[in-house]
Amino acid sequence: MSQKVRELYEQFPYPLRDPGQEKDRLLMPPIDTLSRVNHYCFGGTKEFDAKFRALVAGGGTGDSLIWLAEQLGGVGGSVTYLEPSTASTRVARARAEARGLSNIEYVNQTISEFTKSKPDLFDYINCAGVLHHLEDPEEGLRDLTSVLKADGAMGIMVYGEHGRLAVTEWRKMIAPLLDGKDLLQQLAMTRTLLSALPEDNMLLKMGGGAGFIKGLLENDPEIVDLLLHPVECAYDVHGVYDFASSADLHVAAFTGFFGFGGTGKAHYKIDNLVRDPALLRELAAKPLRDQQAFCERFSGAMPLHAFYLTREDKGQAAEMLPDAELAPYFFVSPSETFFDDLVALSGQPVLIEDGTGNAVDLTGGPDLARLLAVFDGKNTVAELVAILRDEILDTQPIDMNSIAINTLGAVWALFHKFDWMLASRPDGWQKTDGERTLRVRKV
Ligand SMILES: C[S@@+](CC[C@H](N)C(=O)[O-])C[C@H]1O[C@@H](n2cnc3c(N)ncnc32)[C@H](O)[C@@H]1O
Repeated sequence: MSQKVRELYEQFPYPLRDPGQEKDRLLMPPIDTLSRVNHYCFGGTKEFDAKFRALVAGGGTGDSLIWLAEQLGGVGGSVTYLEPSTASTRVARARAEARGLSNIEYVNQTISEFTKSKPDLFDYINCAGVLHHLEDPEEGLRDLTSVLKADGAMGIMVYGEHGRLAVTEWRKMIAPLLDGKDLLQQLAMTRTLLSALPEDNMLLKMGGGAGFIKGLLENDPEIVDLLLHPVECAYDVHGVYDFASSADLHVAAFTGFFGFGGTGKAHYKIDNLVRDPALLRELAAKPLRDQQAFCERFSGAMPLHAFYLTREDKGQAAEMLPDAELAPYFFVSPSETFFDDLVALSGQPVLIEDGTGNAVDLTGGPDLARLLAVFDGKNTVAELVAILRDEILDTQPIDMNSIAINTLGAVWALFHKFDWMLASRPDGWQKTDGERTLRVRKV
């Protein structure tokens, strides 16, 4: 770890967090939500129990630490928090203490020091916003892999090369002005520039307007981390795949990240971005990573990549209809009136929304309500096929089995698109999203 990076995080623990706020709210970084980790990394079959060991590498002021320790507390699982900055550790520890969390081990070391100490292996490793600040990110990833169990998984976030162009350009612009200034002087200069941006400035556009810059000006650690970091690199989609391969790992899925939507994976799907059928067919024939790479540059909206890594290549398995013995469940819970609303809007176009801008359109009615109600987290895929075939679709005069499977596949695709549904064993980990609720709206 370079001395400059070490000093930066001693001076500006990141992200800016006030332990006093723990009594008011729990931050839940979507990448570390165990229902997601289970679905995307463990095929829905993981037992989260007292043996489960998580590592948060470069834990900063503790967002992932707190969320993982909260989820694992009830089952006796533990979290190791690895962080070289003592100032950041003080904040993370105060947050954990404010919540009464005791399933945490604190380690004041770098990734390289810790992994050389041959700790017991981990089931899940979070490393978000850290590897791109290492002198040798590939070595960092290999080090982390050396402490991952054979069937373990990682949740990684690195900067996105394309969506971050505005930052790259800004850094080129100020580079000649940084020489001879210490970090505080650099910060003061940056604040002056940010306070009076020309209206076509790329940073303004990247952040979506003046609110973003106002937020930055109230958050010095964010300015330093975003615009004044002494060591950083960024990855495009192909870079992410190559990065994973460099440690003999595979990309199990892209996912969302704090501040960029809990369901960021939808941004990587061509059918969410391209409407033209001929073009869509042409793109769909390309390898998955080419499709995702297309999305990155077509949408232009990926300042970072958050993704899961596993040792085994799972391909797109988590996107497909789950295995017969798994039970799909509503990860985002339907509102209290969801099913009644669907029945009431019979034959009418409806939008199903999760309150964060994600929506799918369907036609309301009792059949749809009945169809969705069987996804109760207990019925397995095999049972769902039988229910659809024998009880719901049995008025159709054709091969019921294939219709049932196709219907199930279509419902799954629609409701999995924004992680509204995930799958696990019927008696497995099925904790729902604490933030979103599914509602029905008449169009
Ligand atoms: C941008 S912050 C991210 C914090 C946290 N992971 C998050 O997502 O909120 C980067 C953190 O990585 C830590 N870090 C930097 N180099 C490291 C290394 N070689 N080993 C472990 N941690 C490191 C820094 O001290 C800092 O707290």
